Parts: sequence; C-alpha cells; structure tokens
Amino acid sequence: MSVSVLVGSQWGDEGKGKIVDILSDRFDIVARYQGGANAGHTIQIGEKQFILHLIPSGILRENKICVIGNGVVIDPQALLDEIEFLEKNDIKIKGRLFISQNAHLIMPYHKLLDSISEKGTQKIGTTGRGIGPCYIDKYARKGIRIIDLLNKSELERKIRQNLEEKNVLLKKIYDHEELDVEKIISEYLAFDEAIDQYIKDVPAYLHEQISKGASILLEGAQGALLDVDHGTYPYVTSSNPTSGGACTGTGLPPTKIDSVIGIVKAYTTRVGLGPFPTELTDETGEKLRSVGTEFGATTGRPRRCGWFDAVLVGYSRIINGIERVAITKLDVLSGFEEIKVCVGYNYKGKLLKSFPTSSDILENVEPIYETLPGWNTDITDVKDYDSLPKQAKDYLGFISEKSGFEISIISIGPRRSQTIQL
Ligand code: GDP
Ligand code: IMO
Ligand code: MG
Repeated sequence: MSVSVLVGSQWGDEGKGKIVDILSDRFDIVARYQGGANAGHTIQIGEKQFILHLIPSGILRENKICVIGNGVVIDPQALLDEIEFLEKNDIKIKGRLFISQNAHLIMPYHKLLDSISEKGTQKIGTTGRGIGPCYIDKYARKGIRIIDLLNKSELERKIRQNLEEKNVLLKKIYDHEELDVEKIISEYLAFDEAIDQYIKDVPAYLHEQISKGASILLEGAQGALLDVDHGTYPYVTSSNPTSGGACTGTGLPPTKIDSVIGIVKAYTTRVGLGPFPTELTDETGEKLRSVGTEFGATTGRPRRCGWFDAVLVGYSRIINGIERVAITKLDVLSGFEEIKVCVGYNYKGKLLKSFPTSSDILENVEPIYETLPGWNTDITDVKDYDSLPKQAKDYLGFISEKSGFEISIISIGPRRSQTIQL
C-alpha cells in the first residue's frame, strides 16, 4: 500500500516506460500527471514494441487501472488513436482507463501555433504536439477541458470564443490563413461519444482507492531538466515533470506520497535545443547514439548524446526528493575503452559544484571529468548484480556516490527480462 512518483531525472527518454512497466506489477493503479502526447514511452514485450504517448505505461499489465490526471493535456484524436492501437493488439481498455474531467484539450490551433512559433526567432525544438500553446490557454483561463465535451452548447461557445481571438492572431500577427471554425466545432462535438465512458472525477477516485488500500504509481513524462520551473529555461517543456507536479496534476497531496523513484540513464541524452554541457559531437557521441538507438520515440529526431553528468543528476535528486533510482541502458556503455563522468563545472575559471539552471551560464561551462575504465563484455544477459563486470560495478558505485543516490534497479536492455533488481 503506497503511492510512489516515478520521475525522469535528466532531459527525458531515460527509459521511464520500461521501468513503469516493470514496477506496475506491484501497483494497482498507474497515473500520468503532466505533459501530453509529446511523451513517447517505449515498452518492449517479446518482439512487440509499444510506444505510448498519453496512456500510462501500466496499461500493458492486465488488471491494472490507468488514470490520466488533470495536469495532462489531451489531444482527443491522439488518445483515440492510441486506444485503437492497443485494442488492435488485444489490450483491453474499457473499464481500465479513466481520464480527469479537468484535463485540458489540445485544439488544432495549439498545434498550429506550436509549429508557427518554432519557425520564429525563439526556437525550442518542440515536439510540435501543441503542448506549450495549450498550457498557455490553461493558465490564461481560456482553455477547453475534457468535461466541456459533454456540454455541446458550451463547447461550441468556447471554441467560437477562442477562435475569434486565435484567427486574429493567425491573420494579423502571423500572416497565416484563418482556421475553419465550423470544421473544428463539428470535429470536437463528435468526441463526446467516444470519450464519455472514460471521464472521471480523478481526485475523488484516487482518494477513495487509497482509502481502500490501493497502491498508486504516478508516471512522470519528460524529465526534471525539462521542467518549466526547475529546468534549463527557456529550453524546457511547459509543465512540471518534477515530483511536485504529481500532486497538482492528480489531486493527491504531498502527505500521500510515500516515495520518489528517479529514472537515470547511464549516460545523458537530450532532444531539441538548449544547453548540454557533456554533449559529445564527435564519434563517441555517434557511437552512443547508434548503440543506444537514440532516436526520438515521438518525433524520430536523433537525440543528442553525451557522458553522464553527476552535477545535473545530483540537482535533479534534490529538487525531486529522489531516494532510489533505476539506472537504465547500462548495456549501451559496454565496449567503451574508458567512460567519463562529469563531476563539476568550470565557469570562467571558477569551479561550480552545484547546477546552474541559467541557460546562459550552462552554455558556457566546461565540464570537469573523471575517467573510469570501461568493460568489453556484453552484459545484456546478466541475471544478477554480482555477475556484472567489476568495471561496470565500479562505474555504478562512482555515479551513485557522486550524484548521491542509491540504486534499486539496473536495466541492461529494453526487455522485461533484462532487469536486475537489487
Ligand atoms: P521514456 O520516454 O523515458 O519512456 O524513454 P523512451 O522510450 O523514449 O526511450 C528509451 C529507449 O531505450 C526505448 O527505446 C527503450 O526500449 C530503450 N530502453 C529502455 N531501457 C533500456 C536498457 O536498459 N537498455 C537498452 N539498450 N535500451 C533500453
Ligand atoms: P518523454 O516523456 C525528451 C522536449 C522537446 C523540446 C522541449 C519542449 O518521452 O521523456 P514540447 O513539445 O514539450 O513543447 O517540447 O521538450 N521534450 C522531450 N524530450 N523526452 C520527452 O518526453 C519530451 N517531451 C518534450 O524535444 O526540447
Ligand atoms: Mg521518450
């Protein structure tokens, strides 16, 4: 009986999908609390690869209930496509998926404004899923929510009202053709039938389940360094992937959270723009990308790759309150003669031991590395910690000491069986 938050501890794509799938075996409910279809969480079962964008990764375990909290922004068509894809793969969804009535809807103008903004002067390298513009409307109190799908006249009024403003913006500011209001209204009025069955008062449901003894795993999307408040602003997403977001994004208070689990990739990756002190733009970075198949699960973009950054992960541990971590993709480091770990930053001749969130500073730091010996053996079939090569154990010991965490899971491949639990 417990409530745990699982957070990405770097810039996303740490392998949250795989670890949620492993851990959800021990939980009754898995809930997403922020982000939207910008997420791409991969779960490999046998020869089949599932990439989930909106539905919690617990859906692949029979009998587990999955919940999408109020903090998530939902593209209704993307959600229905994902449901259809899972059902085609014999995954039962009805009665197992609930969506918060207060979650905001991604509208066609959000996606359009996202892509227009990316062509402007402040490029972020977004996923183009309309995430930023949707959260803008949420906080401007102009958003349209899941519950609005059930009141046709109100839904129509809200869409008209929003489009009046958005069409002026598109035409006058962006010199773009206006959107067809009637087309969007008819498209969104039709979603009620398909989505009605999943709508729930999520906080009431989760509290009731906790009082009955249910355990809940709260699945973060993105990663701490993409957090709009604590990440490398402005090169971030527009929500709070950090553990605090799990409370506001579900209606569960901090007093109900028992533990925070960090997912940490054994090296570092980032997609999109923004500072990345340990990035390797040489053949070593290329090797990490090809061995680790580091290409975006949502957009297919090549991920930027670099060495492990203990300063960054140490910061992430503190702001998330991480106690235990799952280290993923350790197998990808097999075959490197030596492996570097960043243990500090040099900024204009001064040693920085803590993580500067200012992008300007971070763009100009020089990482200070310690170099560890690598190992040459394939570890993808290793069944227990003791059987790992000594150098791999030393590497794990070193990064956990430098970042200040305790390791409870080591992932050595994308499959369920390639997991060492400590
Ligand atoms: P998420 O967004 O954090 O869920 O991560 P992604 O699914 O975007 O990216 C992680 C990728 O690494 C996926 O292709 C996973 O199948 C894969 N993966 C997860 N854990 C491991 C691991 O331990 N070793 C290897 N080689 N691949 C892994
Ligand atoms: P998962 O959950 C990695 C990045 C984008 C961009 C920035 C803003 O799979 O780890 P957005 O579309 O959110 O406005 O883009 O955030 N980004 C991710 N990077 N993993 C993700 O999700 C990401 N979701 C967004 O590349 O830099
Ligand atoms: Mg991903």
